[in-house]
Amino acid sequence: MEVIVCPDAEAATSLVAKLIADRLRAKPELVLGLATGRTMERVYDHLVAIRRSTDLDFSGCRTFNLDEYIGIPGDDAHSYRYYMNRHLFDRVEIAAGNAFLPDGMASDLRAEANRYEQAIREAGGIDLQLLGIGEAGHIGFNEPLSALKSRTREKALTQITREQNAAMFDGDVNRVPLRALTMGVGTILDAREIVLLATGKAKAAVLARAVEGPITGMISASALQLHPNCKIVVDELAAAALTQRAYYDWVFQNEPEWEDYRSEIAARLAGPSGSDQLNR
Ligand code: F6R
Repeated sequence: MEVIVCPDAEAATSLVAKLIADRLRAKPELVLGLATGRTMERVYDHLVAIRRSTDLDFSGCRTFNLDEYIGIPGDDAHSYRYYMNRHLFDRVEIAAGNAFLPDGMASDLRAEANRYEQAIREAGGIDLQLLGIGEAGHIGFNEPLSALKSRTREKALTQITREQNAAMFDGDVNRVPLRALTMGVGTILDAREIVLLATGKAKAAVLARAVEGPITGMISASALQLHPNCKIVVDELAAAALTQRAYYDWVFQNEPEWEDYRSEIAARLAGPSGSDQLNR
C-alpha cells in the first residue's frame, strides 16, 4: 500500500484523474472499476477535461461500477446509473454496451449478482478499481460485518451510510434505499490495481483505521492492506489522523513512478497557470 497526501482535494482528485488517464493511454482496452459519490464528481470533471484537451480515447475501455441501489430504476436521478451517465458516460465516448452497473431492478437479485461477477470475469478482470470510503468504513457498499471474501451480492445499508447519502435525496434519510447490490470485498481485491480516494475531515478517523488499524470485516476498507498494488490518495484533511505521515511523504517524494505527479502538484502550488497543467 502507498499513501499519497495531496495539499487539497483539488490536487487529490486531479492526481487520481491523471492516474486513470495514464493507465488508459498505456492500455486502450482498459477494464476500469468505477465508484460514485460526491468525492468522485471532481475526478470525472478532471477526466473529461483531460479527454477534451488531449488525445485520450475511451472507446476501447469497459467499465464496471461498484454498486447500485435496489429498487431505483436507471433513469431515476437518484440511481447510480444516472449519476454515471451525468458525470462521465455522456461526456466521453464510452459506448453504453461497455458501461456496466449491477441492475438494482432485477427480479432475481442473486442471479443478477452472479451475472455481474460473470461479466467481470468475461472482460478479463478489472485492471484498475477506483474506490471511495464511507464514513462506516465501507468500500462499495460493503458495510460492517462484510466477509473479506464476499462477492457481488445484496447488502443492507447502515444508518450511517444512509445519513451520509441523504444529501443526494434532498436531505431526507428516509428516502435513501435500505438495500443495494454491491461488488464484494473479494471482488474488489481481485482487481489488478486499486486506488482509493478520500477527501475532507469527515473521512480522517475512518481512513486512519482502514490504513493503519487491524484488518477487520467491521471496516471493509482495511482489507485493502492485503492487496499488493493499492494506492490511497488523500488530501490534508483526510490525512489528519494518520500516524506515519513522514514515511508516506518520503516515499511519494522519492519513488520514480510519482515523478510526473509531483511536478504537477508543484505546478499547481505555483499558481493558476499551474492548475491548467494538471489537466493536460
Ligand atoms: C459509491 C460507493 C461508496 C462511496 C463512499 C464515499 O459507488 O461505492 O463506497 O465511494 O460512500 O462516498 P462519498 O464520496 O459521497 O463520500
